[in-house]
Amino acid sequence: MSSVQSPIPQFDQAPLPLKLYFYRMQPSDISDVLAIENDVYPFPWTRGNFLDSINSGYETWILRDGSGALNGYFLLMPSLDDAHLLNITVQRDLHGRGIGRLLLDKAKAITLERDLHALLLEVRPSNVRALKIYERYGFARIGIRKGYYPAPDNQREDGIVMKLVL
Ligand SMILES: CC(C)(COP(=O)(O)OP(=O)(O)OC[C@H]1O[C@@H](n2cnc3c(N)ncnc32)[C@H](O)[C@@H]1OP(=O)(O)O)[C@@H](O)C(=O)NCCC(=O)NCCS
Repeated sequence: MSSVQSPIPQFDQAPLPLKLYFYRMQPSDISDVLAIENDVYPFPWTRGNFLDSINSGYETWILRDGSGALNGYFLLMPSLDDAHLLNITVQRDLHGRGIGRLLLDKAKAITLERDLHALLLEVRPSNVRALKIYERYGFARIGIRKGYYPAPDNQREDGIVMKLVL
């Protein structure tokens, strides 16, 4: 397993029983990542997508609990002015327990460490829950990417572009 980067103290409200740790995603983590990715998304990223992001030097992070179980992950592509959140995912059984917020907090901290002042992401209009979570976190809708996502029956779904100014 990769080396510990930053321990996160237990929640005061204790929604999660164990301490959580961020690690940089390594190629050896991708099997665990794919187990969550394939479970959560109808059109999941592939092993190659994750490997390309690691090899491109993007900010690729995983969150494991004290027992080593993978709780979630995100991939962030820094550019000149902002950072683009390419993927943020929490293990299905842990949704709604604050882990997404931890991942967003870490993505925000990395963005600021790089002296960048905005986070961007795309989300499907049909992903109402994620949309609400991002809006609650402070993201604003700034545009639409037509046909950005694959959809069933060879259709495409738009992507709502959201921005968080830091
Ligand atoms: C989207 C996702 C990453 C969010 O992670 P999560 O751990 O479920 O989210 P959290 O529990 O941290 O919730 C974040 C905030 O949204 C709020 N929230 C959670 N569910 C909500 C809902 N259904 N409606 C409105 N707000 C909600 C939480 O209260 C929390 O706000 P708070 O910290 O101010 O209380 C996660 O649900 C996920 O992996 N979903 C499937 C994959 C996906 O859709 N990824 C995003 C693709 S763009």
